Amino acid sequence: MTDSERGTGSDQSGGGGDFSLPRHVAIVMDGNGRWAKKRGLPRVIGHQAGMKALERTIDNAKDLGIRYLSVYAFSTENWKRASSEVQGLMGLFRYYLKGKISQMHKRGARVRFVGQLNAFPDDILRIVTDAEERTRGNSEIDVIFCVNYGGRQEILDAVTSLVKSNPDGPITEEMLRNRLYAPDVPDPDLLIRTGGELRISNFWLWESAYSEYFFSDMYWPDFGREELKRALDSYAERDRRYGAA
Ligand code: FPP
Repeated sequence: MTDSERGTGSDQSGGGGDFSLPRHVAIVMDGNGRWAKKRGLPRVIGHQAGMKALERTIDNAKDLGIRYLSVYAFSTENWKRASSEVQGLMGLFRYYLKGKISQMHKRGARVRFVGQLNAFPDDILRIVTDAEERTRGNSEIDVIFCVNYGGRQEILDAVTSLVKSNPDGPITEEMLRNRLYAPDVPDPDLLIRTGGELRISNFWLWESAYSEYFFSDMYWPDFGREELKRALDSYAERDRRYGAA
């Protein structure tokens, strides 16, 4: 296995040498809108229910020994949605960040945000910075919120920074990787997408080169411990060869 295949080159086990447990689980939380529609409710209520599913999942992931959990909370493409939905999501971020960070801090979670954060209003940026600073010392689980995140944009940002700092020299994979948004976070071992769609939608494009996928038909608000365990069980049965025979 080469270093690039291994991500950061760190131990990929769950910490105790258990290779059947993913170290980093990444989730595309899809299906909030359809969950709401099925019940005749506005889409934002689906996002609210999605926020509760996220809270549950953070607790479950921590209990089950997952060291890194990343979630796709807002993509660079989500700005195209109706402004009422975008405003509703911003409202939820505010509420969640203000109300839930203390709880996460008490549970030993380090909270991080990746993406083009400067597109967000100043008050959200302040709460984001506070949350990151307050929880920096925690090491039970890292929860990485991908907001205004796009995998192509992330690679583009890394290349732009590389070319600027190194206009003539050769460029290696490691140099590029070190300029991604969270270079110290190991690549996702397991990438879960709920909502029944079978695509990656611009999430962790570079980092997911060797991730295992688990697609669930469940809408995100219905996602709970059982479905997470089903994904982990499926992962434990995979034979990860990283291109080797
Ligand atoms: C995709 O479902 C989900 C999103 C675009 C937003 C995810 C947001 C949350 C889970 C809520 C809160 C998060 C935080 C960090 C407070 P969709 O709307 O595309 O669903 P659909 O495919 O059924 O329309």
